[in-house]
Amino acid sequence: MSIESFHLPSGVGFGGDYNPEQWPDDVRLADLDLMREAGVTIVSVAIFAWASLEPEEGVYTWDWLDTTMDRLHASGIAVSLATATASPPPWLTTKHPEILPRTVDGVVLSPGSRQAYAVSSPTWRAYALRMATAVAERYRDHPALALWHVDNEIGCHVPHDYSDHAAVAFRRWLRDRYGDVETLNAAWGTAFWSQRYSDLEEVLPPRTAPTHANPGQQLDFARFSSDELLAYHVELRDALRAVTPTVPITTNFMCSTATKWLNYQRWAAEVDVVSTDHYTISDDPERHVELALSADLTRGVAGGRPWLLMEHSTGAVNWQPRNRAKAPGEMMRNSLAHVARGADAVMFFQWRAAAAGAEKFHSALVPHAGRDSQVFRDAVTLGDAVSRLAPLVGSRVQSSAALVFDYEAWWAVELDSHPSADVTYVDRVRALYTALWRRGVTVDVVPPDADLDGYDLILVPTLYLVNDADAAALAAAASRGATVAITYFSGIVDEVDHVRTGGYPGAFRELLGVRTDEFFPLLDGERVTLDDGTTADLWTERVELTGATAVRTFTDGPMAGRPAVTRRDVGAGAAWYVATRQDGEGTAAVVDALIAESGVRPALDVPEGVEAVRRVGENGSFVVVLNHTAERVDLHLRGTDLLTGTRSEVHTLAGGACAVVHEG
Ligand code: GLA
Repeated sequence: MSIESFHLPSGVGFGGDYNPEQWPDDVRLADLDLMREAGVTIVSVAIFAWASLEPEEGVYTWDWLDTTMDRLHASGIAVSLATATASPPPWLTTKHPEILPRTVDGVVLSPGSRQAYAVSSPTWRAYALRMATAVAERYRDHPALALWHVDNEIGCHVPHDYSDHAAVAFRRWLRDRYGDVETLNAAWGTAFWSQRYSDLEEVLPPRTAPTHANPGQQLDFARFSSDELLAYHVELRDALRAVTPTVPITTNFMCSTATKWLNYQRWAAEVDVVSTDHYTISDDPERHVELALSADLTRGVAGGRPWLLMEHSTGAVNWQPRNRAKAPGEMMRNSLAHVARGADAVMFFQWRAAAAGAEKFHSALVPHAGRDSQVFRDAVTLGDAVSRLAPLVGSRVQSSAALVFDYEAWWAVELDSHPSADVTYVDRVRALYTALWRRGVTVDVVPPDADLDGYDLILVPTLYLVNDADAAALAAAASRGATVAITYFSGIVDEVDHVRTGGYPGAFRELLGVRTDEFFPLLDGERVTLDDGTTADLWTERVELTGATAVRTFTDGPMAGRPAVTRRDVGAGAAWYVATRQDGEGTAAVVDALIAESGVRPALDVPEGVEAVRRVGENGSFVVVLNHTAERVDLHLRGTDLLTGTRSEVHTLAGGACAVVHEG
C-alpha cells in the first residue's frame, strides 16, 4: 500500500467521529437516517471504545460494534475503524497501575480522563497490541472497513513521559543513536558542570533538577519522546497490517503551530495516508490564516500529497476558556479552506454531541438541539457541497514559494538559558506566513531537507538549529536563482546544539554576507525604529556587512546606525537577512520586496481578505476561493463553479461565500 494509491470509496470524504456506545439503540437508528440526510460517507468508530468492547479482561462484547458496522455498511457509509486503545479501561489501570505516566516532577497521572498510559511501558504495549489485534481479527473482512485509525492523537496529552519505563527506553534510544557513552558525552558537552557519564545506565530523563538541565539531554529527550510515540504507532500498525495487508492505515496527527512535540515530518513515512485534526481558536481574529498555515503544514508533512481532515468542529469546542460558536458561513469556509490546501476528506469531531462526559459542550454535526437546528441544516448544506467535489480528488496544490519549518529547530530554540526568553519559534513563522497570505501567495510549508528545486522564494524563520547539509541546500537554492530570506537567531547551532563558532549566524554567515559578534536582545517593552519609519522589538544584534548591503538600518536603540535588514546577490538569486523582529508593516514591506524580486504570483488576483488556492490533477485545474470579507467580489475566472454548477467567465461571490471553480 502506498500513499499515492489511497482513495476513499467515494469522492471527498464527509463525516466524523461516531460514538454509538454513548447512545441507546433508538438514537443509533435515528443517526443512520440523519447521516444519509447529511450525505455522510465515512465515520470514525470505536476510538474510545475499549471499556465498552472489553468490559472485563478477556471478556469481549462485540455485538454493538458488529451491529454498527453492519448498519453503516447497509447505509453506504465507510468506516475508519480505531484500535480502541486511546484510553485504557479502568480494570487495566487498576490491575497494572505501573502503566500510568509520570510528569517531569514525578507526579503519576491518574486514570479517569483519557490517554493515561506510559507509552514505553511493556505491559501497556502488550495490552494495546492485544486489543488492536482483537479488533483487526474481528473486522478483517467486514465490507464497511475502509481505513484503520491507530489509537487517537497519539501524544496529545502526554507528549513526554518521565517514568522509569521512559528512562529504560530513552537509554535504549541513546545507545542506538550514539553507540557508546563517550560519543554521548561529546554530543551533550558533559565536560560542563561535572556531567560526564561513565555508563549509559546512569542517564535519566531530564526530570526537574536544581537548575537548567543539560540542553543536549533535553533536546534528545524531545527527539526520543516523539520517536517512542511513533514506535508505538508502528507496533500497532504492523499488527493491523499482518491481519489486513491491503487495508490502509492512518493515525490522526495534530498538524498545527499549537502542537510542538510530535515531529510529524518523520511520522508521515509510517502512515498510508496523512490525516490530521484542526481546531480554530475562537478569540484569534486571524484564525482563518492560522488554519491555512496548519493546512499547508499538513500538506508539507504529507509530501505534497492529498491528506484527510480527520477532525475539525462545526462550532464551539469545550477546551478553550471561552468557546464561541462559529459565525454564519464559517464552517463552510473552514472546511473548503482545508480542501483548497489539499484535504480529500472533511470530517468532524463529532457526529452527535454527547449528553454526558467532559466534552458534552463540544459542538457536533448533530447538536443537542437535534435535527431542527442551524448546525444540522448547515451540515446538510456542507454535505451537499462536499458531494460535488469528487473531480478534484487526488489533485495537488500548486506553489512556487516555500516556508521552511523544522520541529527540532522549534524544540531547540525554545530551550532555557538563551540570549532572550522571548525568542519563540512560531512567532516569525506566523508573521511571514501571514504577510504572504495577505498577498494571496500559496506557500508549501516544508522540512529543511525537502527538495527546494521548484521554489523561487524560500522563507526561513528562526532556524536556530540546522545541519550542514540543510544549510548547504539553502545556499544552493539561492545560487540557482531562488530568493532566500532568513530571520534572526538562525544557523546558530548544529544538530547536537553546539554553537557554530567564529561569528553568528554560524551556518548562514557566508550565504548572507554578514557577521555578528554580539547579540543585543531588547528589553521587555523596548522598541526601536528603522530608517523606513517602521519599528521593531525583541531582538537586535551587531551586524557587520561582509558582502551584503543594508536594506534597512536602525535609527535608534543599541544598534543605531547598523543594519537591520540586509541583502546579498548570490549566483542567480539572493539571500536576505532580517536581524530584528519587525512590526507588521515592516514585515509586510520586506515580504512585498521578496515577492517582487522572486516573481512569485498569487493563485488569482483577488482583493485582500479573499483566499484563492489552485489544485491541479488528472481532471484539470480547480481554484478554491473563500471570501473572508463582507463585500461581494467578482472573480475573473472562466470555468464551472462545482458548488453551484454555474459556468461563467466572471463568478460573483457574496460576502462570506465560497466557490470551487473547475477552470476551462
Ligand atoms: C481531539 C480528539 C477528540 C476530541 C476533540 C475535541 O481532536 O481527538 O477526541 O477530544 O479533540 O476538540
